[in-house]
Amino acid sequence: MSASNAPASNPFARPDFPFALRLVTEAAALAAYDWAGRSAKEDGDGAAVDAMRKALSEIGINAIVMIGEGEKDNAPLLYRGERIGQKDPEIEIAVDPIEGTTNMANGVDNSMAVMALAPRGAMFDLGPSFYMDKLVLPSAAKGKVDPAWPVKQRLEALSDALRKPVRELRIFVLNRKRHQAMIKDIHAAGARTMLQENGDVAGAFMALQDGQPVDALFGTGGSPEGVITAIFARAMGGEFFGRVDPQSDDEAEKVRAFGLDTGKWLAGSDLVKAEHALFVASGINSGPVCQGVRIEGNTAILHTLILDAATGARYDLTSRLPHA
Ligand code: FBP
Repeated sequence: MSASNAPASNPFARPDFPFALRLVTEAAALAAYDWAGRSAKEDGDGAAVDAMRKALSEIGINAIVMIGEGEKDNAPLLYRGERIGQKDPEIEIAVDPIEGTTNMANGVDNSMAVMALAPRGAMFDLGPSFYMDKLVLPSAAKGKVDPAWPVKQRLEALSDALRKPVRELRIFVLNRKRHQAMIKDIHAAGARTMLQENGDVAGAFMALQDGQPVDALFGTGGSPEGVITAIFARAMGGEFFGRVDPQSDDEAEKVRAFGLDTGKWLAGSDLVKAEHALFVASGINSGPVCQGVRIEGNTAILHTLILDAATGARYDLTSRLPHA
């Protein structure tokens, strides 16, 4: 269904809808920026969560948080299941008030406030899952690489699809112990890695965006970031696969009890079962997705990127907000 013939009640059909959402990520980014580079992870995160929650309640939506800051018992705001607005939710949201919290606290590149939205019933319920194994492919490799293949076979297929020798491929991988064997396999096949300490949303974005020094993303990161990535991968014409991949016995037991299958690779369309879906991000510190906050006198300059999975529309927005 195109945006023009969607039912009137569908907020995704409103042309102004994406632009209202910028107020939410901008509020979170600006609140977090006050803490950037002050080695204060919790303070920054708390400020971003409060600001995002307040802005969500002010933009007139009826939504439910599907992916948030944790279950109600340990997250007072933006917890999974929290309702926004007075009426039945029409929208599901996944929030990450700071993607790259450590980067924000350390004052290094790549942190942003992020949110993704889809109609009610569209988002796969990840329940207690924290970690997901991911494969992100650019549009030229869509349909050509099976996530179940071993690393060497994936790389050979990627090389054919991108018409690039394996030795020139560069794979984004989070620099974690859990990836040691996979990193060895990538190097043994002749390809390169980009090992980053944080930020696989930005890694996925680089894999999807032409002209970036990354050809694909492999490996395990946060599950919330996975669903968010599935939405912008579709908007950017690429492909996302995710497999629930618990990293502790406790998580493994919880995901098993919830009925999640750790052996199954889910496609982006399994994770977000709707045509309409939006990704919104505002930069805190500059990274591949967004420019960071800049202060000029009493003005804060913010950069927001909005991607529409239904149409592929992309909005790069700059706001100049009063800042004391
Ligand atoms: P947060 O800033 O939300 O903590 O996420 C940073 C991040 O690097 C994500 O990009 C990634 O998906 C996740 O953490 C990986 O988790 P871990 O650091 O536990 O391996």
